[in-house]
Amino acid sequence: MKIGIGSDHGGVNHKAAIIKHLSDKGIEVIDYGTQPEVPADYPDVAETVCKGYLKGEFDLGILVCGTGIGMSIAANKVKGIRAAHVTDCYSARMSREHNNAQILCLGERITGIDLALEIVDAYLRAEHQGGRHARRVEKIMNLED
Ligand code: RB5
Repeated sequence: MKIGIGSDHGGVNHKAAIIKHLSDKGIEVIDYGTQPEVPADYPDVAETVCKGYLKGEFDLGILVCGTGIGMSIAANKVKGIRAAHVTDCYSARMSREHNNAQILCLGERITGIDLALEIVDAYLRAEHQGGRHARRVEKIMNLED
């Protein structure tokens, strides 16, 4: 599994910690920025990561900003993307099992790093359950038309 990750300046510390956490597990991570001390507007980063996902550059994405809110709002504006703003492990699992979210959004100023890493693990471990959940996800995607 390959992961794509991006943050604005408000999420850059969590991003670095998540990259280390995943790399230590042998998981390949593509870092779409921003880098420390480089301010970035979260809609720009969200767009880059989401378009990277749609181009098949990685399997699942993670976006971090100060709250996770701006990233999730922006990511969900990209056609074809389902981004979940998550602050607990149960929601992280459900965002995959039920909603088949391709992008996990976290807030560095909201969620401490230990919990954030557990959320990332729960998200990556989970699998979409298909069936009635796939039907509902399809209905979500048809709302865009
Ligand atoms: C940046 O200051 C902050 O607004 C951003 O990281 C995020 O929290 C927006 O939702």
